[in-house]
Amino acid sequence: MCGIIGYIGNRQASPILLDGLRRLEYRGYDSAGMALQNGKDLQVLRRAGRIDNLALLVAEKKPQSHAGISHTRWATHGAPTDENAHPHRDQSGKLALVHNGVIENYQTLRDALKLDGHLFTSETDTEVLAHLVGKYYDESSDADPVQRLISAVQSALVRVKGTYGIAVIHTEAPEVMVGARLGSPLVVGLGEGEHFLASDVSAIVAHTKDVIYLNDYDVVTITKSGFDVKHLEGGIAKVLVSRVDFTEEDAEMGDFPHFMLKEIYEQPQSIQNALRGRLSRDEATAVLGGLQMSPQELRGIDRIILAGCGTAYHAAMVGEYLIETLARVPTEVEIASEFRYRNVPTDKNTLQFVVSQSGETIDTLAALREAKRKGIKVLGIVNNVASTIARETDGGIYIHAGPEIGVAATKSFTSQVAVMTLLSLLLGRIRNMSSTDGLELIEEMEAIPDKITAILKQADHIKEIANKYAHVEGMLFMGRQMNYPVAMEGALKMKEISYIYASGHPSAELKHGVIALVKPELPSVFIAPHDAVFEKNISNIEEVKARKGPVIAVATEGHPGIEKVADDVIYIPRCPSVLSPLLTVIPLQLLSYYVAVARGCDVDKPRNLAKSVTVE
Ligand code: G6P
Repeated sequence: MCGIIGYIGNRQASPILLDGLRRLEYRGYDSAGMALQNGKDLQVLRRAGRIDNLALLVAEKKPQSHAGISHTRWATHGAPTDENAHPHRDQSGKLALVHNGVIENYQTLRDALKLDGHLFTSETDTEVLAHLVGKYYDESSDADPVQRLISAVQSALVRVKGTYGIAVIHTEAPEVMVGARLGSPLVVGLGEGEHFLASDVSAIVAHTKDVIYLNDYDVVTITKSGFDVKHLEGGIAKVLVSRVDFTEEDAEMGDFPHFMLKEIYEQPQSIQNALRGRLSRDEATAVLGGLQMSPQELRGIDRIILAGCGTAYHAAMVGEYLIETLARVPTEVEIASEFRYRNVPTDKNTLQFVVSQSGETIDTLAALREAKRKGIKVLGIVNNVASTIARETDGGIYIHAGPEIGVAATKSFTSQVAVMTLLSLLLGRIRNMSSTDGLELIEEMEAIPDKITAILKQADHIKEIANKYAHVEGMLFMGRQMNYPVAMEGALKMKEISYIYASGHPSAELKHGVIALVKPELPSVFIAPHDAVFEKNISNIEEVKARKGPVIAVATEGHPGIEKVADDVIYIPRCPSVLSPLLTVIPLQLLSYYVAVARGCDVDKPRNLAKSVTVE
């Protein structure tokens, strides 16, 4: 949520900052800005709206600078206007600061600063932080401006309650840029004669693959030629240089019109990546070294809690069915933001997983910390390597899906489900699953990527259906068992990118209320693969048809009959019912994508949303 990139080096800063902001735009896109050192004062350029608006201003002003900070915003405090856009300056106008996160005590700090004569030009918490750092800078008697700036940042941040990832520059210390983090990610990029600060490696991967993922309470100073990391309250901080494992192209659209479509089409590959090296045919099980738990320890687990938000929560819901069906371990799914404030009973044999694509979602992070506080072992199912959640868990399973840029999650869902299938296989095999069943499951899992490819080939058919229903006022999504979470995920996709109100329900719940909504203008999407509840789903479809509700069905090929009751049918290849969510979700992703395109929506940057939500 919100994106930061800062540059200091020998090249022109503004093109590097603009390119970085474009790569970060999925994190927030209501306004953007940059502040540049130009030898005497700071040039601050800010614009409400998309990065393109800022780019026009940059083209007009042609700033000449080799050091600057920039930001793309997702508004928390104050409307998305030019004035509220970052960077913000201090009282002297010599200091500029960009910020991700929320300063919870900003009102108190603002009131105190006002009494000291500070004047504010925005409604943001960030401007308060800029003034606070500026105040400590101005009050310092240190003759060295660099030291003054570092100490001022430290003094200000110890007074702050909340979360931050920041980058700060000052005209009197033009050779440095200071960054700090608490709860909001910040990465240092190491180049030859140049250094970067960014909230996300995708902003800088075109320039360097050597990065330092900062830890909470780190304060970093970068110059053209080096960096220095200190703890907020003084003392040495631990520094680890990592190598980014994806390329610039991985985070680009290529020939696809949208990231979302590209990521939908990447799923045969991303699932293969999730499975690679993790299936043992010899032992008919999964190999998950990242869990860092012995078979004895895993056998001792008598309860599993899965927590996540949004799409990750839906994947966790599928995980609950998988673990209970395949491994017979009682499992509960929690919305991370609710878990955090509940007092869920746990004991020493409870194992918790937090599921998060970004590894930065603050609600999920808070659930992780709450569980750890209670002494529960917490593992992660995460995409972003070295993200905060990945680092704070006691181990886990990376999904290896590669960068996911489209705000609506797609490939991360199927990879999370694939990884939870592996987990269920492993847990099942150390309990009561036979090697024959284990091997059969492995073979079926290996066949999933080709089956997804077959579904993707029906994109034109799905597009036709999408065009037919693109202008409806709402949609219902129905599924049972493992496909109930898929119904919720289908509805979430539809809401997020097409702004059609949609909701997902267990099919049998229809008659307990939802059926009151059924009418010709409100289509229902039934996920009805050929499984134990197929006939029940057909009855529910009949109930909708009897009330003149249009029905789109997702069904298994080779089982005729459903086309007699549904108006439109999308077929998926046969697969065991435990694996069906990996297939049934694909037509729903495509359906929402094509509906959104038909409605002229901005698929990759839906209104009011952001890719990783780092505020509560
Ligand atoms: C936001 C995104 C969703 C995502 C959710 C959880 O709401 O818009 O697409 O599913 O966060 O994100 P995470 O990174 O934790 O999986």
